[in-house]
Amino acid sequence: MSQDKAPNDALRKSLHNALKAWRSTQPVSPEFFSLRLFQEAVAKGDSPRRALNQLLLSSLERLEVKHLDEAQILRDHFIDGQMVHLLANRRNISESNFYQRQARALVHLTAVVEQMEGERLAAYRATIAQRLPALAGLHLVGIEARLAELSPLLLNGAQPWIVSLEGIGGIGKTSLAAALVHHLMGSDHFRQFGWVSAKRSEFNVGEGLLDLDSPTLTVTALVEQLNAQLLSSSYALGGLSSEQQFALLQTHLKERPSLIVIDNLETIADVQALLPTLRQLINPTKFLLTSRESLYPQSDLVRQLVPELSVQHASDLVRQEAQRVGLHDLATATDAVLLPIYQAVGGNPLALRLVVGQSYFHGLATVLGDLEAARGKRIEALYRYIYRQAWDKLDEATRKVFLIMPLISDQGGDLSLMEEISGIESHHLRLAIERLVMANLVDVGGTVDQRHYTIHNLTRTFLQEEIAKWL
Ligand SMILES: Nc1ncnc2c1ncn2[C@@H]1O[C@H](COP(=O)(O)OP(=O)(O)OP(=O)(O)O)[C@@H](O)[C@H]1O
Ligand SMILES: [Mg+2]
Repeated sequence: MSQDKAPNDALRKSLHNALKAWRSTQPVSPEFFSLRLFQEAVAKGDSPRRALNQLLLSSLERLEVKHLDEAQILRDHFIDGQMVHLLANRRNISESNFYQRQARALVHLTAVVEQMEGERLAAYRATIAQRLPALAGLHLVGIEARLAELSPLLLNGAQPWIVSLEGIGGIGKTSLAAALVHHLMGSDHFRQFGWVSAKRSEFNVGEGLLDLDSPTLTVTALVEQLNAQLLSSSYALGGLSSEQQFALLQTHLKERPSLIVIDNLETIADVQALLPTLRQLINPTKFLLTSRESLYPQSDLVRQLVPELSVQHASDLVRQEAQRVGLHDLATATDAVLLPIYQAVGGNPLALRLVVGQSYFHGLATVLGDLEAARGKRIEALYRYIYRQAWDKLDEATRKVFLIMPLISDQGGDLSLMEEISGIESHHLRLAIERLVMANLVDVGGTVDQRHYTIHNLTRTFLQEEIAKWL
């Protein structure tokens, strides 16, 4: 019968052998080491044989729900060691009939293990995704080529152990790093993924504007965050010294190839301070850094410049964004019509998104006209200019809401939190947020029921550094 065909023949054979070897001490077949279910049990400290037997028992338990007799056959024969002729007799069937039932049971058991593995993988991916920054949920244009280019560098199991994604603010470093993690989760190479942001501490209500000279990520903070993400919760980390915590992390990362992203290492000083530590943690683990500044290439560190979008991709991004906010004309505009946008802001994804956001309220011609003055400006000046234009066009109520955004953490805040912080009545707050989202000044993430709102790094900087001067 076709539904009885084993989905994975190699796994079925391995499971059969594992059952036969229930009591033996022979090494566990390599097949099992690629299963997340198995890896996690071993990582918790179980011996491979014990982890495998535990896996067999829990899969038999699950098989029992749908195929009680089949689970019983496997248990009686392999685990309790009962003889085939007795088992066949008890069921009033011939031995060959018994073997047929056993074969069917193994096929079903394989399907159960595959299902359990699928569930484990999904849970694992969901945990990793929670660590990643909340991206706006957009399709990243041109991402496939970048993934194809960078994945081999991260999967080669050799130098460079540290890869730094570099480029100006808003070019897409964080987005690319997050896309790489998503992509590489699909391969067996990395056993774990960590994500740490080196962003400066948040704007503080009491103290006003942020102290931009404050140190970013310290070694202690990096180690603590990675241990919290990667080590099993059974470790009582609280009572350990920094040296002990570091030693634990080092052993962990040396034993299993992991990919650790450190996002927002904004200055060379930030990187230099961390490099000696990272070098003690690499191989087979790799680090992926994102930085606005260029690091010196070294034998174990390779720089990858995140380039501007091509004119074609820039147009694709504009159409995609226009589609999202419901600007039909712009969403269907030809490349030739969109060219002036590219000429004004270049292939900077964030700048392109902001321009589309502005066109939603003021029409493309007006926005492009206003941008004339920014043409050819350096990128910082261009952003300052774009943000200024956007700010000037916001009404008072919307500005008020925009100004509270730096008080919301990177993970985003929901409406009730924003209502609490701002004291603005929820109907007005909702309207203002909607305008800010349409203008791409605020990003929206989360689920339909539980939306949360964040701002981009550059928007945060603009709000903290520039607006204060204009108020
Ligand atoms: N290829 C792309 N397609 C569509 N949107 C993109 C693309 N790359 C980046 N973006 C969008 O552009 C914005 C800036 O991207 P991102 O935050 O990754 O930049 P960054 O280089 O990390 O900036 P910073 O240096 O400020 O941290 C985000 O809103 C992101 O969603
Ligand atoms: Mg970033």
